[in-house]
Amino acid sequence: MCGICGYIGKNNGVGKVVEGLKILEYRGYDSCGIAYIENNKLKLVKTIEGVDELYNLTCDKSSNFVIGHTRWATHGGVSEKNAHPHISSSKKLAMVHNGIIENYRELKDKLDANYYSETDSEVFLNLIDSKSGDLLTKVIDASKEVKGTFAIIILSEDGEIVLGKRESPLYLSNVGDELYIASDILALSGENFYTLKDDEFARIKNFEISFYNKNKEKIHKKQEKIKKNEAFLENFYKTHMENEIFETKNVLLKTLKEYENEAIFSKIKLPKNLKSISLIACGTAYHASLMGAEYFKEVGIDARAYLASEFRYGRELLNKNTLYIFVSQSGETADTIAAAKLVKSHKLNTLALTNTPNSLLNRICKNVLPTFAGREIAVASTKAYSCQVWSLYLFSLYLAGKKLPSERANSNFPFINFDEKFIKEIASYKKVFFIGRDLDYITAMEASLKLKEITYINCFAIASGELKHGTLALIDKDAVVIAICTQEKIKTKLLSNLEEIKARGGKVIVVSQFDDFKDFSCVKLSKFDELFMPIVSVIPMQFLALKICELFGYNPDKPRNLAKSVTVE
Ligand code: F6R
Repeated sequence: MCGICGYIGKNNGVGKVVEGLKILEYRGYDSCGIAYIENNKLKLVKTIEGVDELYNLTCDKSSNFVIGHTRWATHGGVSEKNAHPHISSSKKLAMVHNGIIENYRELKDKLDANYYSETDSEVFLNLIDSKSGDLLTKVIDASKEVKGTFAIIILSEDGEIVLGKRESPLYLSNVGDELYIASDILALSGENFYTLKDDEFARIKNFEISFYNKNKEKIHKKQEKIKKNEAFLENFYKTHMENEIFETKNVLLKTLKEYENEAIFSKIKLPKNLKSISLIACGTAYHASLMGAEYFKEVGIDARAYLASEFRYGRELLNKNTLYIFVSQSGETADTIAAAKLVKSHKLNTLALTNTPNSLLNRICKNVLPTFAGREIAVASTKAYSCQVWSLYLFSLYLAGKKLPSERANSNFPFINFDEKFIKEIASYKKVFFIGRDLDYITAMEASLKLKEITYINCFAIASGELKHGTLALIDKDAVVIAICTQEKIKTKLLSNLEEIKARGGKVIVVSQFDDFKDFSCVKLSKFDELFMPIVSVIPMQFLALKICELFGYNPDKPRNLAKSVTVE
């Protein structure tokens, strides 16, 4: 999703900001641009052709004051005019904005301004410009009238900069006489950084930085250390997604090592009388949460997973004996954050299970349990999912007072390379279904999400037992059913389901470690403890999606309409 970068310093900041935007590319975007000062005038360069093109368009430019943005369209289509930065009606201010201004229509009606885009951001900018006083006063006064979320940088033509935030992250770092601003710590330079809290602002004037609260009072801020979460392998494979799938084994081992002496678990403050666990997340992290809930139940703790976007508006009875775990790779997902804030407002016990050390979710929750998947760049989550499942499994063992495994993840992982024929065959079907029971049903959901998000094939997952309650009507010669079976107790039942599919002309492919499916095409898995099998079986499913994506000629790292960090609700 949208990304912000800024530079103020004695050197040329154009290349530095474009480089920062390049780092933010992984979050997903559809247009980008920069604003800079040249001869006391604000200049804009924008493109819908990507950050590399922005580099070509700006490599001969130079400025000490530069702000940049990668946009993920919400209000108004993908176009240069809707790309940020925007320029105010008076042409004196430029702005980049992450977030959404909910009352932009109402504000627009009140303002007398010219508009060059269809965005809500431009309305916020003109509201700022309409206020009187110095730039800081204008920004703070305008922010009181907007409803919604924002992280903004305002650059005035005389080189003054004001930034502020509400619910959307924004960070600054100071390296010698250079100041860097970014919405993601990864795009900051230096070792230390400042964070803005909600409704806090910063002013940069004459290369000096000062911080303010919403009452315009000066506040003091301490710097924090940037914690690194490095990936393990250099980019060895063709795409980030492939690289990251291959990193799975390393990151599981790293996680095990970090959890080994249990110190990381013993720091977690559990409810005094722990009776149940609620896991709350979105997308792939929700699937990991479903798996986690099964692991907790396995050791006798009542547990349930919720979609964050539903949890907020549902009727859940919050309870002081419940531990609320928020699972998120990025730690920035708006729905998950909103749910965490809701639980926190009831003073209940929260835990962030995230892969991003300095994330917003970590700051909101009382406890943090890190996953050690390293930086995940591909939009489709792979190694981070396996790590979330693994972390929840290890945490369940800890809660049950059981010993953590030592070498389990050390054996061979089934990095199955489907042969080209098999990929082509599956890709030729009009309908793709994933089925499974119990833990395998959860893997089926994740497999289906991976396939649809990078190949655009219309597919879905269904619990094997539910097929006969409606979906069997869709099974014919145009359908392929991928059945996952890693749990001994469901083998026989699955065999009957498969016969029903075969009888209706559907193609069946079984993904299993068992030898019982000789009558069907089979993807053979290595054999591990059954509770560990969901991590083993998801890997060939991730590969399947990747290989079909490549066969179709799409870029798996940048699927359409999706972003790595979903910072809008
Ligand atoms: C799918 C995918 C998304 C994310 C979801 C939550 O591959 O990546 O479904 O899992 O947007 O993101 P995080 O884990 O960052 O909260």
